[in-house]
Amino acid sequence: MTGVSIIGVGMTKFGERWDKGLRDLMAEAGVKAILDAGVDGPDIDAVYGGCMSAGRLTGQEHIGALIADQSGLNPIPATRVEAACASGGLALREAILDIRAGEHDIVIAGGVEKMSDVAISQVATTLGGAADFEWESNFGATFPALYALLARRHMHEYATTEEQMAAVAVKNHKNGALNPYAQYQYKVTVEQVMNSAPVAEPLKLLDCSPVTDGAAAVILARNEVAKKYTDTPIKIISTAQASDALSLHDRASLTELKATQFAAKQAFEKAKLKPKDIDIAEVHDCFTIAEILAIEDLGFFKKGMGGKATVDGLTKRGGRVSVNTSGGLKACGHPVGATGIKQAVEVAWQLRGDAGKRQVDCEIGLTHNVGGTGATCVIHIMSR
Ligand code: COA
Repeated sequence: MTGVSIIGVGMTKFGERWDKGLRDLMAEAGVKAILDAGVDGPDIDAVYGGCMSAGRLTGQEHIGALIADQSGLNPIPATRVEAACASGGLALREAILDIRAGEHDIVIAGGVEKMSDVAISQVATTLGGAADFEWESNFGATFPALYALLARRHMHEYATTEEQMAAVAVKNHKNGALNPYAQYQYKVTVEQVMNSAPVAEPLKLLDCSPVTDGAAAVILARNEVAKKYTDTPIKIISTAQASDALSLHDRASLTELKATQFAAKQAFEKAKLKPKDIDIAEVHDCFTIAEILAIEDLGFFKKGMGGKATVDGLTKRGGRVSVNTSGGLKACGHPVGATGIKQAVEVAWQLRGDAGKRQVDCEIGLTHNVGGTGATCVIHIMSR
């Protein structure tokens, strides 16, 4: 099979970016990745752009064409990819499959979302479209409320505590404090998390990812071509995707995301690796309980032990597996369509030794990007 590597990465600062529009964010991330790779624009064969809901959040659709146009890449093919909060991860996967299919040699995969231009009520309604609109969102179940149900069930079945969930936020803010691209570059304590405003009990403000503007991009190349551009290509050793019921009431279990479990099994089998082989993982911590579910469903820890593992420091930088060194969605921010690509940017920086103050010793990294409450999951495993 044709091997594929990441040869360049770039991202914007995440946050409330009143200074930049959707198109500026996309172009900034794309140009940074192109310069990082050292490729010339005409060398790029195709673009895949992840974006969840630019139409409802900014009024702009036709994002594929906009990316190509704004990045000076016309007339190459440009395709928008949508899978809710997994749009970025899926854009990355589509770009990899394109090169593997032999169609193109150098492809750019990007992700973007501009969320802060509309009222929070419109953001919440828009994000609700990632759940089952007819049976969940339409009855007032917001995203924090749906994840609160998962948290309650995990607390019921495994005695997971609110303090254990708070430990996820404390760890991720500690990492975010070292990341100049993060939305929140400050530490928080367990007490601050516990005393932050209730959003959907048991989830509080500091258990939630924020509303974020931002973009990220990676340049991918066929391995033989990658050698021409860099001595430090990041090899994609597996890509996997899985689906599950859109609505929570149709799930077999509320304490496991079957899509994560299925995609993880595929990703590890294809890579001929086990969870214990992973040194760093960027996982989808849209809420603190989501990181606990992820580290269990990915097989890093036994079901029910994710909260304890976090409190015990097993997921901190340099722990058994360094989880969310970027600060995760919680502290780095969650511009939904960009998140899956940002995860790949962070893993690439870590594997190249370019992660600055948050650098960990690592050889193999994993990205885990979830759409909705777990209806889509995309996983990538990469190595130096
Ligand atoms: N973590 C830490 N601080 C946060 C925060 C978060 N998630 N969200 C907001 N804040 C801070 C703001 O920076 C602001 O601080 P300041 O007063 O010092 O400037 C303060 O809290 C109030 O911010 P505001 O924008 O008014 O918050 P809000 O009440 O409109 O929104 C949430 C808060 C939690 C409702 C919102 O962040 C949210 O909906 N998060 C979930 C997003 C989501 O569902 N994503 C998809 C997941 S799959």
